[in-house]
Amino acid sequence: MGISIGMVGLGSFGTAFADMFMSHPMVDRIALCDREPDRMAPYLHKESWRAKLKPTDLYPSLDEILRTDLDALVIITQPWLHAEQCMKALEAGKHVYSAVPIVSLPDGQEILDWCDRLVETCRRTGLHYMLGETTYYRPTAQFCRRMAAQGAFGDFVYAEGEYFHDVDCPGCNLREVQRSRTSSTSGKEWLEEEKRYERRGVEGGPMHYPTHSTSGPVSVMRAHAVKVTCYGYRNRNGDGYFGNGQISNETALFEMSNGAAVRICEFRECAGELGMDGETFRIMGTRATFRENQWICNHRDTPPADMSKFERVTLTDEEMFEPLPPEVAAAFKDALGIQGEGDFIPSGHGGSHPYLVHEFVDAVAHDRHPTTNIWEAARYMVMGVMAHQSALKDGERLDVPDWGDAP
Ligand SMILES: NC(=O)c1ccc[n+]([C@@H]2O[C@H](COP(=O)([O-])OP(=O)(O)OC[C@H]3O[C@@H](n4cnc5c(N)ncnc54)[C@H](O)[C@@H]3O)[C@@H](O)[C@H]2O)c1
Repeated sequence: MGISIGMVGLGSFGTAFADMFMSHPMVDRIALCDREPDRMAPYLHKESWRAKLKPTDLYPSLDEILRTDLDALVIITQPWLHAEQCMKALEAGKHVYSAVPIVSLPDGQEILDWCDRLVETCRRTGLHYMLGETTYYRPTAQFCRRMAAQGAFGDFVYAEGEYFHDVDCPGCNLREVQRSRTSSTSGKEWLEEEKRYERRGVEGGPMHYPTHSTSGPVSVMRAHAVKVTCYGYRNRNGDGYFGNGQISNETALFEMSNGAAVRICEFRECAGELGMDGETFRIMGTRATFRENQWICNHRDTPPADMSKFERVTLTDEEMFEPLPPEVAAAFKDALGIQGEGDFIPSGHGGSHPYLVHEFVDAVAHDRHPTTNIWEAARYMVMGVMAHQSALKDGERLDVPDWGDAP
């Protein structure tokens, strides 16, 4: 028997996942929830949805969908809402998937408290939480984790993770995103809430949305941050997007639990990117290095290296992706209306979307921890929170808390 899922939040991002959650072969029933009813209505008229979505399974509020007997909720609401809504879902006995990050609020202490409560609630209830971190399932990350599992990097020495997303980025303009996310009922409520933080003099920063840059190094090295020092760049041109001269860019250096150093950048005011992509990571070991689709390996197991074995290989995404189960790939291909005989090509943020959907559904169906469970996700989040604290204290070196591994 399959599982039942409710999708909460059918805005710009939720709609990119709806067809895949609905069509997954292990999902028997799907329900929808959004405070804007017109965002749910189109699905009732889709022929492909008829077997799994009943007209009575549309809910205009979170409270109402919490009262159902659905197994799990997929929460893709605005970033300041995730943690509280996920807590409510868990307390209502449901497994939960959250869009990134765990939560983004101006007050870092509040974020840490939410991490603490979510970890405690997952531990107590045995229910599963998954963070929908797209970087985790980019082909580069999938490939690097496979190589790391074989010990092919040697000892990890250094890693860099970065999310360079300029406020006026032509592909995804952050002013437009902000306008769109604050245009709905829940968005307007936030504009009022945000003023309360301003009155308290609490200043957030780009490191409060850190998971795209931190998840690559953490998940590949299977290490967590121990110490951080971070520097901020404050906006200088009076751009209203950055409030009254707030920090727009942050650069942090972490000492990791495995002895490696990790440099993380979260920039929102930057012309272009430094590597081939604005959202990427590079990892260096004593035996191998990975950067921008290149695997460079000296094969040194005992020194000196045999240079005849030295390799530098450029990989394609297809070579780096792990295969999805064929029946899942076929269902997604059909649901997304992809024509032709060829294989299903994963798409959406580097091809991560179908992997995220499959991982959550499979984890719930088999009652196992998802890959990006709350213990893992907290490691991505806390790096950003503590980095921002350090930046606000002129780079003071701070301890980074850790909640340990999933039990
Ligand atoms: N690469 C990535 O991982 C990536 C990319 C884009 C967006 N995101 C994340 O996706 C999330 C959603 O972004 P978006 O652009 O789709 O936002 P959006 O504002 O377009 O959509 C959010 C939806 O949630 C609904 N909602 C809010 N509170 C609700 C409640 N209590 N009950 C029911 N519905 C509720 C809103 O009505 C809205 O339709 C954000 O948190 C963002 O961080 C992640």
